[in-house]
Amino acid sequence: MIRAVLYQSTAKTDFPSTADHDILETAWRHNGEMGVTGYLLRTPTQYFQLLEGGDDVLDDVVGMIKKDPRHTDMKILCDNTVNERRFANWAMGYHLVTEAERDEFDGWLNDGDNFAESMISFMQLMAGRREKASPMHPQMR
Ligand SMILES: Cc1cc2nc3c(=O)[nH]c(=O)nc-3n(C[C@H](O)[C@H](O)[C@H](O)COP(=O)(O)O)c2cc1C
Repeated sequence: MIRAVLYQSTAKTDFPSTADHDILETAWRHNGEMGVTGYLLRTPTQYFQLLEGGDDVLDDVVGMIKKDPRHTDMKILCDNTVNERRFANWAMGYHLVTEAERDEFDGWLNDGDNFAESMISFMQLMAGRREKASPMHPQMR
């Protein structure tokens, strides 16, 4: 059984910021060991992150991330048991939503009735584009 948690938070780091690079390096190191996969999306003001893994492991990871001073106001958008991972190949994917992509991002999120589901499918769209553009992008698992 896999648990999937999606949250949003307010970033306290600059945009764009090398802090995101540090976060990803840590995430890649830990998540591979813990069997956690997922995707991190960065907008000028927010983080959206999907974390997938075992039940107990996710309690630990979410608890640890929540205390991180690089962001604040974490809100859980969904916390479900799922049959399969959406990002099985990604120890943690990442996408920075640029101003140029902002309309596409807002349109995508306003289209669906379920915000969390729309957010996850936007992450999948970005991950798919990245895989197409650069098959060498780190896919850790
Ligand atoms: C937005 C955000 C997302 C993060 N995602 C992860 C993650 O997926 N996995 C992880 O281990 N740490 C993640 N972190 C970092 C943790 O909060 C924490 O700093 C880190 O795990 C501490 O590792 P260290 O003790 O090895 O330095 C994230 C931090 C932020 C701000």
